[in-house]
Order: sequence, then structure tokens, then C-alpha cells
Amino acid sequence: MENQSRGQWGSTFGFLMAAVGSAVGLGNIWGFPYKMGSNGGFAFLLVYIIMVIFVGIIVMLGELALGRKTGRGAVGAYVALSKKYKWVGMMGVASGFLILSFYSVLGGMVLRYAVGYLVSMFGADGFAGAGTGFFGFLLYDYKGMLLCYVIFMLINIVIVMGGIKGGIEKFSSIAMPALFFMLLAVIIYVACQPGAGEGYAFMFKPDFTALKEDFLGVVRTAAGQMFFSLSLGMGCMITYGSYLAKNENLQRNAVIIPVADSIIAILAGCAVMPACAAFGVDFGAGPGLLFASMQTVFSNMGGFAGNLMGFLFYFLVLLAAITSSISLLEVCTTYAIDKRIDAGKDPARKKITVIYAAIIFVVGLPVALDALGSGGAAIPAPYELLGLSGDAIKGWNDCWLDVYDLISEGILMPLGALVMSLIIGWKLSPTRKHRDRENLIVLECQEGGHTFKAYKFFDICFKYIVPFGMLIVLYGQIVSFFG
Ligand code: PHE
Repeated sequence: MENQSRGQWGSTFGFLMAAVGSAVGLGNIWGFPYKMGSNGGFAFLLVYIIMVIFVGIIVMLGELALGRKTGRGAVGAYVALSKKYKWVGMMGVASGFLILSFYSVLGGMVLRYAVGYLVSMFGADGFAGAGTGFFGFLLYDYKGMLLCYVIFMLINIVIVMGGIKGGIEKFSSIAMPALFFMLLAVIIYVACQPGAGEGYAFMFKPDFTALKEDFLGVVRTAAGQMFFSLSLGMGCMITYGSYLAKNENLQRNAVIIPVADSIIAILAGCAVMPACAAFGVDFGAGPGLLFASMQTVFSNMGGFAGNLMGFLFYFLVLLAAITSSISLLEVCTTYAIDKRIDAGKDPARKKITVIYAAIIFVVGLPVALDALGSGGAAIPAPYELLGLSGDAIKGWNDCWLDVYDLISEGILMPLGALVMSLIIGWKLSPTRKHRDRENLIVLECQEGGHTFKAYKFFDICFKYIVPFGMLIVLYGQIVSFFG
């Protein structure tokens, strides 16, 4: 009966689309290509894949199993293990709040670009006369920023109000295949342009000097990217796992999601990098890539084709962003629903979704109004508040987005995954002292008659490799923000 009031995924395909949808987001299309390009290309990819195998898949399985075992979201799952672990779940919900607030501002901006190209396809000027300088224009167009932010949040509210099966699964089952085919269309179009080859070379040319010169730098960039990209460490996959049926094969799903996510990340790179190369845009441009650089690409493409490709590209990024942001909102919504169910109340999903989204919206306002720290905006950036200038402006204080990002992605998420793997590896599994303790994850994976042959590998990873990997991420994040 309990599952009826919480809801459940309708099919394996639907669950996978939702989970892959959560994983595939701005991190794949925006972060991955430029990080790969500026960290040794193929060498980076190699490190990334090793990280996925030894850390990503392991944490993914741990989260899915924890969620399904307890039938509870981020906080409820830890409380079900022991009241003293509640804070680990709370860190996850806090991360959900912070990430969703800045993610929705970015999502709103992507929406604005998609609409801009759509309008331009029909002959109007979709970019308010600002042309390729639109990025700078939009940041100070507060009304425009707020409107896009509101619309993006409303889309999230409508989907999450629809519930697990009727909202999130339904949307993801259409959006993810659509995203995939649009991405293929862009890749093929770009591949036919003269000069595209240089972009592939930039991505795939094995350049091991990057590894030799700054091994730790490459490792921490790859680890951090993998982590955020797979939506791990903040209870998102615990939440999605809690809605899984007992006969689902967890170990198989825990492999499919990271593999699909990595493939889409590489494909995204195969669209973005060659496009920059073919249309004379610097692909080492870093974070500006998604907005400023790509707009220049489509403008240089010119004519109807440029507008059409621009629309396809930003629309697919929009779908990727929505399927991620609804998973973030669901972490918060499930937290409140679980509390209500445990108190014997009706879940009231719709009401809760609206309340939480409204709070998150307010939290995100500084991100929407500080012009990403360009200075002199409606709301001062953190460094302006603190009266800092010159070298004192660092990654953690240059804009509100980066402050939120530091707290969530930088600290809370790796810490969450670190503690989770320690709990699974040392508290819930057999150890030298407790030889006959039953391994909770193994038992959960065997539900429904599935065998779990690789459990020894998983056990070693939970005990040693994941904690070590997470410490590197934590160290790396702190260095990159404060360095
Ligand atoms: N994985 C998403 C991306 O790559 C971001 C995300 C992080 C979503 C954490 C949910 C939870 O953009």
C-alpha cells in the first residue's frame, strides 16, 4: 500500500529515461566538451572512464539500492538506517536546493536562446538587436532574466506535480529520445562542414603531456565532472531508486545510466567542438562556450540553416536541463512527502511541489540578478559586497552562482558520497571484526532472483577506492575555488 501513495515508475524504460535524463544535463553539453578539450583530450577521456568504472558505477549502485531498500528519499533513507545519519541526507536536500536555484537561472537563459532562434527562423530578430553580443545584453536585462527564470521554474512545477509516473517518467520518455535525435542531426550537419576535423582532433588527440604536467589537476577535473554529471552524492539516485519495483535489476541499471551519460557527453563534444572549429570560434573558451561561443557559431553559419541549427541545439540543451532540474526538485519534494507519509498524512504532492519551488526560486534570485558577477548589476556580486577587487576575486566569490556551486557541488556532494561509501563499506558490510554481517547492498541487489557476481569488486570499491576518490575530489574542488 505504501508504494501506492508514494507512486512508482511505470516501466524499466521509463525509469531509465528519467535517470539518464537526470544525469544528462548542462554538465554534459556544457562542461564536458570544454573540460575534455583543455585537459588533454583523449587522456582526459581515459581518466574519466576509469573514474566512472571505479567510482561512478559504484556510488550509483549504492544510491539506487539504498533508496529501493528503504523506500525513502534522500533523508528518509539515511534515517531508516540510523537516526544519526540524518545529516547526510540533509546535506543532499540542501544541495538540491542550491543547485536547482542556479540551474534554473541557466535553464531560463537556454530557453531564451531557443526562443530567439525559433523567432529568427521566421524572419524576426530574436536577439533584440544585440546579435552575437546577446549574452552580455541578457545578463543586464533583468526583466528578461526573471521572466525566463519564472517560466523555467513553472515548467518544473507542472512536471513534478504530475508525480513519478504521470509527470517525470512521461516527460523524460519523450524528451530523452527527442534530445538524442536532435543531437545526431546537429552532429551530422556539423560533420559536413569544412574545417570540422580540427575539432575532433582537439577532443581526441591523445595528449599525455597534460597528464604529465598536471596529473592531479586532470584527475580532479575528471572526477568532479563525473560526479556532477552523474547526479551523484546528493540523494538524487536514492530518491529515484526509492520509486523502483523490487524485481528491477539494480546492478544492470547502475551500469546503463553512467554508460549512457558518458556516451551523450562524448556526442555533445562531437557537436560543439567541431562546430567551433568549422566556424572560426575559439573552442578553448571555457565556460562562455554554451552561450557566447555557440551563438557566434550559429551566426557565422548564417541564414536559415544557422537559425534552424541554433534552435535545434538550444532546444535539445533545454530538454537536457529540464530532465535534470525535475530530478533536483523531486529530491526536495520527496523529502517532504516522506515526512508527511511517516506522520500518517496525505502526501499532498502538488502543494508541496509549489511551496518548495517557490522557496528555491527566491534562493536563486541573486543568481539571476547579479549579471553572473560582471559588476554593477541589480544585486551586487559577493566580491562587490565584500569590497574585494583584483586578485582577491576568486572562484568562490566572483558571482552568486559560484558561491552556490562551491557549497553544493564543491563540498556537500563529494562529502555526501564519501560518507555514504564509508557507511556502506564499513557499517553495512562484513568486515574483519564482523565477519558474518550481511551486506545490505548485496541482499538488495539479489531481490527478484538476480545474481550479483561482482559484489567483491563493489565491496573493495566502497571500502577503499570511492573514499579515496572522493577525498581527491574534495581537495581538488577546494583548490580550484580558492586557488
Ligand atoms: N547531472 C546533471 C548535469 O549533468 C546535474 C545534476 C546534478 C542533476 C545533481 C541532478 C543532481 O547537468
